[in-house]
Amino acid sequence: SQDTLVAESPLDAQPSPAARGKSILPEVERRRTFAIISHPDAGKTTLTEKLLLFAGAIQIAGSVKARKASRHATSDWMEIEKQRGISVASSVMQMEYGDCVINLLDTPGHQDFSEDTYRVLTAVDAALMVIDAGNGVEPQTLRLLEVCRARNTPIITFINKLDSEVKDPLDLVDEIEKVLKLTVVPFTWPVGMGKRFAGVYDIRNDQIRLFRSGKDRLETESETLQGFDHPELADRFGAEFAQAEQEIELITGASAEFDKEAFLNGQQTPVFFGSAINNFGVKEVLDALAELAPAPKARAAIQRVVHPEEQAFSGVVFKVQANMDPAHRDRIAFVRVCSGKFTRGMQLKIGRTGKSIRTASAMSFLSQRRELLEEAYAGDIIGIPNHGLLQLGDTLTEGEKLQYTGLPFFAPEIFQGVEVADPMRAKQLRTGLMQLGEEGAIQVFRPHDGGALLLGAVGTLQFEVVAHRLKHEYGVEARLVPTKYRLARWVTAEDPAELKQFIDFNAYRIAYDVVEAPTFLASYQGELVISERWKTIKYHALREHA
Ligand code: G4P
Repeated sequence: SQDTLVAESPLDAQPSPAARGKSILPEVERRRTFAIISHPDAGKTTLTEKLLLFAGAIQIAGSVKARKASRHATSDWMEIEKQRGISVASSVMQMEYGDCVINLLDTPGHQDFSEDTYRVLTAVDAALMVIDAGNGVEPQTLRLLEVCRARNTPIITFINKLDSEVKDPLDLVDEIEKVLKLTVVPFTWPVGMGKRFAGVYDIRNDQIRLFRSGKDRLETESETLQGFDHPELADRFGAEFAQAEQEIELITGASAEFDKEAFLNGQQTPVFFGSAINNFGVKEVLDALAELAPAPKARAAIQRVVHPEEQAFSGVVFKVQANMDPAHRDRIAFVRVCSGKFTRGMQLKIGRTGKSIRTASAMSFLSQRRELLEEAYAGDIIGIPNHGLLQLGDTLTEGEKLQYTGLPFFAPEIFQGVEVADPMRAKQLRTGLMQLGEEGAIQVFRPHDGGALLLGAVGTLQFEVVAHRLKHEYGVEARLVPTKYRLARWVTAEDPAELKQFIDFNAYRIAYDVVEAPTFLASYQGELVISERWKTIKYHALREHA
């Protein structure tokens, strides 16, 4: 038969590795892609820098910090960022550590840009949560954690600033369990704090690493003592050590055993204590990321589940950023590789439009320098410059029709009407708002009954950024005017006829967003009660791009 004939041909029986493609599984399995989540000032920037330091990606700390203060050098348009010292832009840092390739995705710390952060969190496989031991769980930590929980993202916890006077560690553990509803499994435990901070006890390996403050360079030596009953411990750290010993006994008795499965489902979090600024406890966290954090997993697209080790490339745009160079109108789409191998120059197809895009100038983000990218694997992030072809939520493939789901849009919490000062520039205003809306910088709503466009944001700074960008990038002087709206909910109904009725009935408070999804606008919470006459109408505070 044909089959036998084919099988007998030595060439066909042994396709060359080039034709068949070498398995990319080993490359996928060594990827660790994560983001740091924290409330501003908990030490995210400091820890990021120290992780890079320990991974050997930088020699002297200070560069990330410097970047935080002076990123305007590369993002001229964002003068606001410079003026306020807020990092608006997220970026990506890739480093090798041991056998692992680590992709660290930066997120804006300021809560006014948290929507951007939420989308970045859809591109990671794990999160590192930093908690300021002096402040405990703070509001932004809780919000970010809820986003992680919605996706069952595994979380490793770093409790920072033990070198200062902080909360009692037992209370901190209790707070995390109660407020964040996570089961805590301490991997290390602090001995003393502040001026009397002696070090951290490694509970699993039964040894203590003694604290030594060191700022910007890698410590070359560290002192470790084995076992609880090491005579030096009591001698040197008397009261602190006795207390820590008691606490450890208590906590190991009371806390759950580490369960990898529960950690991977985002129910349990391994906890580490330290002081990022002093490089202390950082290596333990980096090791935990390499050992415990998961490699890329299979992802759901509308059409099917896609496995990361599949040969064919696929990826999803989770962030779009206007180019740092205002002279060129191009934008960078940040693409999370979901499957396969990316090679520079590849022709990729955009699922939404069916258009092709060339990738000759795709970039990687190796240790903070943008470089031309040669290849990338599932888990990596690539940057593709384009002129508006790529939008948030777009799926890229080698040709297969795929659309990944799950990129969140949150119901705005503040609204402003927008008018143009010079009516001759109305068209530019629409174009500008359309593009900024697609980028996710702000949400743009078109009222059902016509009239001025409405802007919706989660934080007020977003309005300032948008007004600034409209002026500098689109030459439009926009006037922001107050509105009575305070809340918005996307509306759906199982019965399309009922949806239409609902929209007609509430026409004066319905608006459409960038993807034409109908939205109900309200001035206060009470207006969000759905009257009983509507049988299938539902409100949603979150919309996922599909
Ligand atoms: P963020 O990105 O989460 O906003 O925090 P960032 O790293 O910028 O740190 C916020 C503040 O906390 C900084 O102080 C930083 O030095 C300090 N910090 C970070 N890690 C530690 C630590 O382990 N111990 C102590 N005691 N402080 C820490 P700052 O005064 O705002 O800035 P700077 O003057 O130090 O630059």
